[in-house]
Amino acid sequence: MKTVVIATEKPFAAEAREVMVAQLEEAGFEVKLLEKYEGVDALKAGIAEAHGLIVRSDLITADVMEAAPELALVVRAGSGFDNIDTAYAQAHGIVVENTPGQNANAVAELAFELALAALRPLNGKAGRELKGRRLAVHGFGNIGRIVARLGRAFGMQVRAFDMTLDAAVAREMGVTAVDSVEALYAGAHVVSLHIPDNPATHGSITEALLLTMAEDAILVNTARAGVIDEAGLRRVLDARPAFSYVSDVSPSSDTVAWAAEHAAERLVVTPKKQGAQTLEANLNAGAAAARQTVAYFKRGDTTFCVYKVIPAHLEAYTSLATQLGRLNAAFVASPREVRLVAYGELREHAGTLAEYVLKGVLTCALGETCTPNEAARHAADHGMRVAMVDPDNARGYGNALTVDFVSADGVEHSSRGRIDEGQMEASRIGEFKARMPLDPGLYVIAAYKEGPGMADTVGHLLTDAGYNRVILGAGPNMDNTKAQAFFEVEKRTLSYAEQVEEVTSICEHMRQAPDVHDVKVIDLR
Ligand code: 3PG
Repeated sequence: MKTVVIATEKPFAAEAREVMVAQLEEAGFEVKLLEKYEGVDALKAGIAEAHGLIVRSDLITADVMEAAPELALVVRAGSGFDNIDTAYAQAHGIVVENTPGQNANAVAELAFELALAALRPLNGKAGRELKGRRLAVHGFGNIGRIVARLGRAFGMQVRAFDMTLDAAVAREMGVTAVDSVEALYAGAHVVSLHIPDNPATHGSITEALLLTMAEDAILVNTARAGVIDEAGLRRVLDARPAFSYVSDVSPSSDTVAWAAEHAAERLVVTPKKQGAQTLEANLNAGAAAARQTVAYFKRGDTTFCVYKVIPAHLEAYTSLATQLGRLNAAFVASPREVRLVAYGELREHAGTLAEYVLKGVLTCALGETCTPNEAARHAADHGMRVAMVDPDNARGYGNALTVDFVSADGVEHSSRGRIDEGQMEASRIGEFKARMPLDPGLYVIAAYKEGPGMADTVGHLLTDAGYNRVILGAGPNMDNTKAQAFFEVEKRTLSYAEQVEEVTSICEHMRQAPDVHDVKVIDLR
């Protein structure tokens, strides 16, 4: 019999807990409750027998997971999973799931409770209204979308930013989609945060950004404390006497102590995180966690796994897929259709690998990285067709990926890649056979009329501009009419962004050279 431990330092409402236990017991699990436990040792001792673990914001580190040798599944009853060491879990075959959307309404309603508390404290004094104010929704997932809808209902002017936000979807909701964080914050009266805390967002809400908001703006944080640059926030509270910060996630004790002295009524924090603390949210998230636990152990269902399940020995192919996505994006920047042929053992994982290809495309388009899930959502929102083509394994490519992009006006580009002795490489780029490494770095590909010394002629433009360049290869197409050379380029005195800019302009010249057909800058960093 499998054991499921519900370990919650901040317990679910009793009604929710009863539903969960009943659901799990009915499915034949032994259920153990570990509520309001004190300290990590109590947690470790309490989960020693666990096959499945259901938690909330409980810190599930590698050390904690090590204490449960049979552990196969951790379900975070909630949305953010930054409390779980997913890298450790993935490396040890432990599936980690969340229950997206289940507590979204509770969090969205709290965001307005906080905004209203700042605008109109219950103190008998004259306050201000939400109607007509500019609401900026930062992050347009399940919670952000509800906040936007509620904002519209309050008569606010609503705009939103999310890397994967489709302007048409936003427009239908009466929301203006903006294409940068800067555009989102500029002039906003209320900013509501709905982004995760991860390396890309940590400390990203800076003084400079906050100072672009209205003088009497309100920053509402029902997301995570870590996304705020607290020193910057303190300076803004200092410089702007009408600025407020209302949060459900406590800043550091230093900031709280500073605020008590300098911004007492303008930095308001709930005593304990309560965004998801409603009976409804507990019932929704708790029941979903129990349901997902049953689905995993009975049917191997990993729909809600927060990382993509791919066997460890094939893991490197996710990077290959992303790099091929980036390579192809240099030829067809916004594909209408993406086709993937996954050869050999990769066939079983074509769906997952396709998401990593999309991640490559999107990273190029947005200039910042995103998760495979976000990329897939974005692709779906934009009506991008993704097709998995059955491989002809008789070709003997072994484990390899062919990625085809087709643009809206029918331009096609295809590349194939593989991993040879641990090295990611393209084995075909368009019509050219190639052995081009796909390691992170800056590359140039030039196609020209076949002729002696052409690779050197075009390559000289790079060396003349002070670039160390390595000719990685050159070769003709099938009928010897064209050839292609590819270079890896580097100039240590410049930042990477400066190199991309300068190489792009050198390539403009290269395109003008006699007999050169096409030149691409390939940013694979
Ligand atoms: C979430 O990520 O779902 C919320 O932050 C809720 O967290 P909680 O379960 O600790 O209330």
